[in-house]
Amino acid sequence: MLLPIPAILQPDEVASLRRLIDAAPWEDGNATSGHQARLVKQNLQLPEESDAAREGGQIVLAALSANPLFIAAALPSRIYPPMFNSYAGGQTYGLHIDNAVRIRPGTDWRVRCDLSMTIFLEDPNAYDGGELMIETNFGRQSIKLGPGDGVLYPSSSLHMVQAVTRGRRVASFFWIQSMIRDDAARTTLFELDQSIQTLAMQVGQGDPAIVRLTAVYHNLLRQWAEA
Ligand code: NI
Repeated sequence: MLLPIPAILQPDEVASLRRLIDAAPWEDGNATSGHQARLVKQNLQLPEESDAAREGGQIVLAALSANPLFIAAALPSRIYPPMFNSYAGGQTYGLHIDNAVRIRPGTDWRVRCDLSMTIFLEDPNAYDGGELMIETNFGRQSIKLGPGDGVLYPSSSLHMVQAVTRGRRVASFFWIQSMIRDDAARTTLFELDQSIQTLAMQVGQGDPAIVRLTAVYHNLLRQWAEA
């Protein structure tokens, strides 16, 4: 499932996040890359264990935990601490696949990357290029969203970032281990959840059929989840 999630961060949160990270020192995005990424990746990143990255990451995590659409779609079990990157002056990240497992440097804390997420942190009119291109079963999708908006997509997808030819693209990116490893099963649960919520608005939360459908949702989750 590829899902845009609007307004994860409010404008004031984007502004304070930008103040925080723009003032911090950035490094070559390849400082921590593997061999294959190095061939296609040109960008800057905030060092992931820097104070600004940690503090900024907390703002992002707090916003995610308060976002019902994100929770319903991702069913998160673990979230890798959000990172930040920047593209300008023709920088690009060619077609690649994200690592299957990320280990936090200096620890044995690891996340299986089921879902990748990008949250855009710049006005899309302030830069040219920088689209996130994601290959799906239905062709290549081009994503360029407003500041504070995000996109969730399977980490199994090949994807790239188009060259930024004017201005600067700033974003937060990270990975999610879901309680539901299988993308199709997770998508089915999400569709069921969203349909129950829509029906409940029409017939009332206490309607016996809604109660039964809600039980079906939770019992499927109980069968499938690795909590
Ligand atoms: Ni990637």
